[in-house]
Order: sequence, then C-alpha cells, then structure tokens
Amino acid sequence: MSLTSESPVAVLCSGGDAPGMNAFLRAVVRLGLNRHQIPVYGIRDGYRGLVRAARQVDGDAEALYAMKQEIERNIGNRGLIDAQQSIIKMDHASVSGIMGKGGTILGSARCLDFHKPDVRREVIQLLDKLGVRALIISGGDGSLTGARLLAEESDLRIIGVPATIDNDLQFTEMSLGVDTAVHTLVWAVDHFIDTARSHRRVMVLETMGRESGDLARMAALASGAEMVITPEGGALTEARMRSLAEKIEGAMTRGRGHAIVLIAEGVKFEPAQKRNGAYILRDAFQSYFQREGAPFPDLEVRPSVLGHLQRGGHATPGDCILAARFAEEAWKALLNPKGINGITALRYNKVEIVPFGCPDLPERAVHSRAMDALHNDLASW
Ligand code: F6P
Repeated sequence: MSLTSESPVAVLCSGGDAPGMNAFLRAVVRLGLNRHQIPVYGIRDGYRGLVRAARQVDGDAEALYAMKQEIERNIGNRGLIDAQQSIIKMDHASVSGIMGKGGTILGSARCLDFHKPDVRREVIQLLDKLGVRALIISGGDGSLTGARLLAEESDLRIIGVPATIDNDLQFTEMSLGVDTAVHTLVWAVDHFIDTARSHRRVMVLETMGRESGDLARMAALASGAEMVITPEGGALTEARMRSLAEKIEGAMTRGRGHAIVLIAEGVKFEPAQKRNGAYILRDAFQSYFQREGAPFPDLEVRPSVLGHLQRGGHATPGDCILAARFAEEAWKALLNPKGINGITALRYNKVEIVPFGCPDLPERAVHSRAMDALHNDLASW
C-alpha cells in the first residue's frame, strides 16, 4: 500500500529519552511536509499515548469522531500545549527551534501494557480507523521489540530508529543520543578532575548503559579517565578490586596525584551486591588504601552515581546530523513500493535499513575490545 497525502505517518519516541530525539522529530516532520507532502501525526508519550488513545475511543464511533475533530482542530503547538491530547497533527511551527533541545517535545514512556497482544490489537485498530498506515518508532531495545511486534501483527508499515544513550544495539555502529551522552560525561569528568586534583583523591563515577559498557568506555577514551570498568570485562571479585586498587596505588607511587575511575552500571560483582557499583568499589578501594603500612593512608575515595544527567542536555551536532540521516532513511523505506519494514542503522558509516531481528555487527565487539586496549595504553602511568 503506498502512502499518500491522505494517509498520515505517525511518529513516536519510546523508552528512555535520548538527546537527538527532537532533531529527529523535526527531520521527520519537515521531510514529510516539505519533501513528500505527507502529513505527520506526533504521538505523545510513546506507546503509552497510543494505548491511552485506543482506550479513549474504545470502539465508540462518537469518541472516534471527537478524536478526529480534535486532531484536525488542535494542530501543532495548540495540540502540544494540551497534555491530554495524545495524537497531534504536526506542522512546521511545532518543530521550530527544537533542533538541539534535549528530551523530546512529544514525551516518552516505558509502557508495560504494550507487552500484551490484545492491547496492541486495540492500538492497531485505532490507527486503522484514523487512516494511519505507517509508524516511525524511535527508542532502544524494548521499543524496537514493540515495533517488530506491530510489524508482525498488522499491515502497518513500521520503521524503527535506534535512539538510546546505552549504545547497546549491536546491529548499528551508533544509536541516537550516544554522542551527546559521551560529550556530557566528558564534561562531568572535567569537573570531577578539578576537585580530584585539588584534594588528591580517587573519584569513582558510575555511568549508565544497562548491560553495555560502551558509553563508559567511549567516555573514558574521550576524557582521559584513568580507569574504566565495563560489564564485558567480567564480574568484579574481591581479588579483582584489590588488583585495581594496587594499580592506582602504583600510579600514585610513580607521581600520579589523583585518579578518575568510570564504572558502568551493568558491572556485576561476585558475590552479587545490591548497592550501586560506585559505592562498592569506593569501599574496596578505601579499605585497601588504608590497610596497615599502606604508602598513602590519607588517600580518599569519593563515589558519584551520575544518573539521569547523562540523558539530558543540548544534542551535539553529531547527533543532530545522525537524526536527520536516520529520518531521511526512514522516509525512503516507507516510500519504497516493495513495502519494506525494518530499522535504520549506521553501518560502515552508511545509513541503511536492516530487518527487525538483524544479527549483531561482529565488528562492534572487536571495536569495543580495541577501544579498551587503546584506553589502557593511553591511561597507564
Ligand atoms: O536505557 C537508557 C537508560 O538511561 C539506562 O542507561 C538506564 O539503566 C535506564 O535507562 C534508566 O531508566 P529510568 O529512566 O527508567 O530510570
């Protein structure tokens, strides 16, 4: 089924927000209106907004009519101002001035209800009744699984777009938001270095990234942090923590005055621990540095869990450009008469569409290991 000016394309942001989502929305809307003359509906709050809208209509013809009226009446910023309106017909002005702005003007959410097939069925029926024939979904792993299920269970055209600071989607070299999050971490490390240097301290900083260490290792390489610990390196045992502490102490005896240690949130411990890794590592380091006869008994360790600041802030030019390239590829796929569904991906520096369930790029793991080795050689003292 080909898309026409009568069949709007809907776009949503799902899961944890990622910097660059706004640049992406702007590109989707502007390409739709300027290049393809196809209207774009923005869905508020990801899948949750779709579910809310489906429940609002709940098969009732009058409620459906009212929703259609609302969409046509409250266009663009008027619709965006009304937090109760789940589906908004986007216009040029509604995406004006948002290019680098962090977060997403449409809002995002994690929606557990969307795991239920009958809930997805209600959503598919609603989109059908609204004349929506295609959906562009930006988000991380869980959101793209939702996209795949919609593609399997309906005749909607579905394009997923990787957007997550975790960089844990291994079929693409980069996801939207990673570049900005690395930039933010470099900024954070710079601030911690100032105080670490003044007090001759060890700072243990915990980064996000779920099960992936990519965000931490990229930030370590870009900031010059002395040490990075990632889930891919295996669980941290007492013995491993001691040898890391020895390494830092060794650098101190060779004249180093401070150290920044990045630990990714996904790092596991043996035996398993409930507290944040940054605190566990602080305790292990601190007691090692204060052991009987230690050369630097005054060496203090301070932990910080960097948390959600990593998801905010002005998107970098790199993310804004990637957002535009992903949006362009998404439209190309939607307009392809062969009816392709899939996910936009950056592979070998080219943006292309890969099928849902596409295997990992083997180079990603190789590249991560090479980055670790490079960081190690650059940071060793
Ligand atoms: O997936 C992005 C991410 O920020 C992860 O790095 C982190 O583990 C998680 O989301 C935090 O989720 P929430 O915002 O729901 O606390």
